[in-house]
Amino acid sequence: MYRIGDPEITAVGEALKSGRLFRYVNMAGKKETSRIETFESEWAGFTGAAHCLSTTSGTASLICALTALGIGPGDEVIVPGYTYIATALAVLKTGAIPIIAEIDESCTLDPLSLERLAGPRTKAVIPVHMMGMPCDMDSILRISREKGLAVLEDACQAAGGTYNGRTLGTLGDMGVYSFNYYKIIASGEGGALVTDRRDLYERAFMEHDGGGALWPDNDDIKAPFFAGGNFRNNEVSGAILLEQLKRLPGILSDLRRAHHTFAELIEPSGPVKVSPSRDPDGDCGIQTTLLADDTGTMRDLLGRLTDAGIEADSPVDSDRHLFYNWDPIISQRGAAHPLMNPYKMEANTECRCDYSEGMLPRTRDIVARTIMIRHNPDWDENDLRQTAETINRCIQAVAGP
Ligand SMILES: Cc1ncc(COP(=O)(O)O)c(C=O)c1O
Repeated sequence: MYRIGDPEITAVGEALKSGRLFRYVNMAGKKETSRIETFESEWAGFTGAAHCLSTTSGTASLICALTALGIGPGDEVIVPGYTYIATALAVLKTGAIPIIAEIDESCTLDPLSLERLAGPRTKAVIPVHMMGMPCDMDSILRISREKGLAVLEDACQAAGGTYNGRTLGTLGDMGVYSFNYYKIIASGEGGALVTDRRDLYERAFMEHDGGGALWPDNDDIKAPFFAGGNFRNNEVSGAILLEQLKRLPGILSDLRRAHHTFAELIEPSGPVKVSPSRDPDGDCGIQTTLLADDTGTMRDLLGRLTDAGIEADSPVDSDRHLFYNWDPIISQRGAAHPLMNPYKMEANTECRCDYSEGMLPRTRDIVARTIMIRHNPDWDENDLRQTAETINRCIQAVAGP
């Protein structure tokens, strides 16, 4: 979350005073649009998708989307080795097996790894636009078409980012977003999914609200009734998200201003370069990403940046986002109940479940050489210039004469 204040406070107050805190406001037989439904149509409009469904989280949106795509036992889904663990956990929740793929130097899914890993059981891929950085969607979409894979974009960290002019989350069959506290726009917790396909929207809707088909508001949902859960978002979230959406273009343009200014002013040198970007203009601009030639140089530079007061870190230090720290997955404890554990299911005997020691050497190497320098959307020109000068001094110190 970058910005929040009086407009959100007023909107939440109005929602509370209205006494209507629930998605369905059709209590007296009179259809009224709830705040969360208004957010859904505005988010669909903002992204350019035909349909949007808001849920309680990014994870809930992933589960609803995978369910909508028909993923389940007997299926493999490819996920990158650098993403929040929830991307892979959501696959297990459907009974399918996550296959973990390499990233490339952009810190997003390596299309070559996708191509190599897609096998007869693979039904879908989840490219993740980490830290607002677009994946190589042209290659991913081409390979997925050739291999017959569904594409579910995880844009949880990339609300409002674009790739070749199209909003992240709308290039594949479905896309998901998170609005938890740490995201570009936030309502504390919350999520959304988008798709152009009505059939997928209806199945996702059914999963998001197992009893939804029984509410009079939902007589337009025609998908066959199956047992879903409850991932409904609420009116207080809706009130916050409508205000956050108004802020999003400003947040993105300020982050991107920092990104572009740094791209001009930061001088990579010697063993330090700028990481490649799949779309420098579409990138959300959350950070400047540097790549050192070796881990020692990365550590040296990161130490100097931190000492100089620059907010920077390396993905190698993240517990939650690196596949080798995903204990329930690596040790194949795929569910609380043994009979619900996808790794033990009869239907999954032909799925590849081996997460071998030392797997994904390229991902391990890249994350151990990468530094992410966080941008502040409230920096003015002077802050930007001074920060870039400090970063350059640190780079020069490790690069030597
Ligand atoms: C890439 C990615 N996918 C999925 C999620 C899950 O989102 P949530 O925390 O809203 O469930 C997150 C959130 O941290 C994320 O960063």
